Amino acid sequence: MQETYMQGKSLTRVFGYGASKTIAVNNVDFDFHKGEIISIVGESGSGKTTLAKMVLGLLTPTTGEINYEGKPRDISSHAKRREYWKDIQAIFQDPFSTYNIFNKVDDVLLDCINLTGGKNLTYEEKFAKMKEACSFVNLKFEEMTNKYPFELSGGQMQRLMIARIFMLKPKLLIADEPTSMIDACSRATILDFLLKLRDDIGMTIVFITHDIGLAYYISDTVYIMEHGVIVERGTADEAILHPKSDYTKRLIGDVPKIYEPWEF
Ligand SMILES: Nc1ncnc2c1ncn2[C@@H]1O[C@H](COP(=O)(O)OP(=O)(O)OP(=O)(O)O)[C@@H](O)[C@H]1O
Ligand SMILES: [Mg+2]
Repeated sequence: MQETYMQGKSLTRVFGYGASKTIAVNNVDFDFHKGEIISIVGESGSGKTTLAKMVLGLLTPTTGEINYEGKPRDISSHAKRREYWKDIQAIFQDPFSTYNIFNKVDDVLLDCINLTGGKNLTYEEKFAKMKEACSFVNLKFEEMTNKYPFELSGGQMQRLMIARIFMLKPKLLIADEPTSMIDACSRATILDFLLKLRDDIGMTIVFITHDIGLAYYISDTVYIMEHGVIVERGTADEAILHPKSDYTKRLIGDVPKIYEPWEF
């Protein structure tokens, strides 16, 4: 049995009151294991990002609890939150939101070195680390250096995000639709980098998507969400090839080519 890394118990998040009340996440249980890739799949508005924000500690659950590394998670003070965030990183839909647009690529990567205790390394050592991170995602550091994020292509920007994660080496990565801006070929590449992060570093990855085909390709475990509720949960094969809920069957019906191998 794999070691549980994070556990959610009866998590509920309500927004608003009275007639405008939305139950964005409704009584959700989850178990994320170390080194596991978990996909959360659902249509727009099903509560995926709200759930992710509760895991990240950016939103407080209305009710329910989160256990982290075997203990109730305590992020009640600023210092405790900072400690918690050391182990966790997120990448969001829009890669621009990750960067300060006035910081050159070098600064983005140098920041990661400083954040991970490398402030006093020599420039040569820092340079070697930046080069290693770029080559992890097949970017040439020489072509990136001295550029601003807005001078990169969408695919390069996505890869730079993965290079950052490679340097920061969080225990948990939450990737909220990181592939929606790019073409199918770059998308598969990003997914392969996520798989590589898991294989090389043992990172636990929560991948959030509308796309059940991507979820099948990348995940060990799949959670399907509908209107805030987890309607299906299991291994990728159980949840997607042998779904129990009508909702999952309908989602799969919308993706007739799911069983066919991908070609590029
Ligand atoms: N801060 C907020 N205030 C009020 N309602 C919110 C807030 N954040 C989310 N909601 C509502 O909660 C529900 C779930 O939203 P959420 O962003 O979690 O969906 P999602 O599954 O991530 O959708 P998408 O795939 O479009 O990103 C929606 O009905 C949304 O309008
Ligand atoms: Mg969302």
